[in-house]
Amino acid sequence: MTDSNFPKIPLRSRAWFDNPDNPDMTALYLERYLNFGLSQDELQSGKPIIGIAQTGSDLSPCNRHHLELAKRVREGIREAGGIAIEFPVHPIQETGKRPTASLDRNLAYLGLVELLYGYPLDGVVLTIGCDKTTPACLMAAATVNIPAIALSVGPMLNGWFRGERTGSGTIVWKARELMAAGEIDYPGFVKLVASSAPSTGYCNTMGTASTMNSLAEALGMQLPGSAAIPAPYRDRQEISYLTGKRIVEMVHEDLKPTDILTKDAFVNAIRVNSAIGGSTNAPIHLNALARHVGVELSIDDWQTYGEEIPLLVNLQPAGEYLGEDYYHAGGVPAVVNQLMEQGLIKEDALTVNGRSIGDNCRGAVIEDEKVIRRFDDPLKPHAGFRVLKGNLFSSAIMKLSVISPKFRKTYLESPEDPMAFEGKAVVFDGPEDYHHRIDDPALDIDENSVLFMRGAGPIGYPGGAEVVNMRAPDYLIKRGITELPCIGDGRQSGTSGSPSILNASPEAAAGGGLALLRTGDRVRIDLGRGTADILVSDEELATRRKDLEANGGYHFPAHQTPWQEIQRGIVSQFETGMVLQPAVTYQ
Ligand code: FES
Ligand code: MG
Repeated sequence: MTDSNFPKIPLRSRAWFDNPDNPDMTALYLERYLNFGLSQDELQSGKPIIGIAQTGSDLSPCNRHHLELAKRVREGIREAGGIAIEFPVHPIQETGKRPTASLDRNLAYLGLVELLYGYPLDGVVLTIGCDKTTPACLMAAATVNIPAIALSVGPMLNGWFRGERTGSGTIVWKARELMAAGEIDYPGFVKLVASSAPSTGYCNTMGTASTMNSLAEALGMQLPGSAAIPAPYRDRQEISYLTGKRIVEMVHEDLKPTDILTKDAFVNAIRVNSAIGGSTNAPIHLNALARHVGVELSIDDWQTYGEEIPLLVNLQPAGEYLGEDYYHAGGVPAVVNQLMEQGLIKEDALTVNGRSIGDNCRGAVIEDEKVIRRFDDPLKPHAGFRVLKGNLFSSAIMKLSVISPKFRKTYLESPEDPMAFEGKAVVFDGPEDYHHRIDDPALDIDENSVLFMRGAGPIGYPGGAEVVNMRAPDYLIKRGITELPCIGDGRQSGTSGSPSILNASPEAAAGGGLALLRTGDRVRIDLGRGTADILVSDEELATRRKDLEANGGYHFPAHQTPWQEIQRGIVSQFETGMVLQPAVTYQ
């Protein structure tokens, strides 16, 4: 399409730069954007002003390559007849931010909403990548609802060590075990871990970053085939240019997030999440996005639509390969096509290129069937989440596909009920308490114990810590018992493959059932029926609740920053996306 073919849609930027009713303010708005070289002619020419929401910086290395990519985005914008204005988004670095990067998802969201709403922008390119940058940007675009297109920074190249692939995050769990076993020393540990990050880009495993970037494409918010392109590849530069061109057209077509982010789009994303072996953080972020765009999406929808979907993508931590392999094998379109052939994709869902996901992905071939498996030859059946409920919490999720044969043998293989187990609760209040006491023999942890982590949710930690996957105590590991069932109101890193029950809502700090649990209580988990309960009487629970309330509720650490205090006062639980409750009414 050329400029002249576009239907005439009034640009919101004209209210700033070309408003005949208010010449004084127009002059005032204009003059400061002229001071770095944009001309009055350009700003009043009727060309769309396109924001580039820049999430890259030295503080956020995963997204830093966007500083380069933005140059190609600008060229695309300019060539399609737009004017680019690049601006910073509050940086989020998953591994570097204390106490946790998830505290900042809602902060970056709020900041970006103000920028998109309050400045003369007709459309925006969202530069996504590291875990929380993707939901923060999409949530903001959904709230303001101006034309928006996402651009992944892309995964890092594959990591290698002595001829084997080393994947981001996943290698840390392995390297820790090697160091504990005395097979490597500390410098060797650091070298092994660093081998997994050989280039610019985000985590090359199917952690939360690869998950959320794949889902941004499955939702229709990125150009088809773009999510999996590794950051340093030339194709990444090319797609950046095409993304810049496309957003200008989207402004002329008035194609907005609410046109794309429909219930069908979320159903597609849930199914793709199962097929790629996506992170347990995905429900938190997608449920948040849905609430900001006004789509009804519940935690139960994840089981309804996603549980039966098999695992097709053979990436670490669930499988063996990494980001480059995923791209060469066909990326998101190849996965979508496999699901589509089974009638599992809502094919009419619209995407940013103006076509449906069905039209974009139909016939997309798998280029390497070791990395992306065919639907009839999956890595594992039922790769989605099981939702659990009971007197411990109103919801928590578990990825059934990560239950190892050993875990199954130790805990689940009872003839009368092959999906249920009972055990003695051992309760930790936050990660520090766990680290101090896990090896204390006085806890008397044995193979029938169930480890609980509480005080790790959106309010308790705050932001929610990735700490639910806990190791067994040393004295059990020496006896060959390495895995114990873990349950908690915190999260777990997308790069960890532990069989934990997590994201429990409501958390202990919000008065959930976990706050009433005591070490020594019997608990019963039934994965088949989807229940998780403390086996004490209702009267006893009522007494404990009275005591808890008399004691001022569940105690959690003091706020360390103003934002922690503000967020703790207004945040919702994981089940509903950990959103700022006053924010979900805005559109
Ligand atoms: Fe940023 Fe994994 S830590 S993408
Ligand atoms: Mg993470």
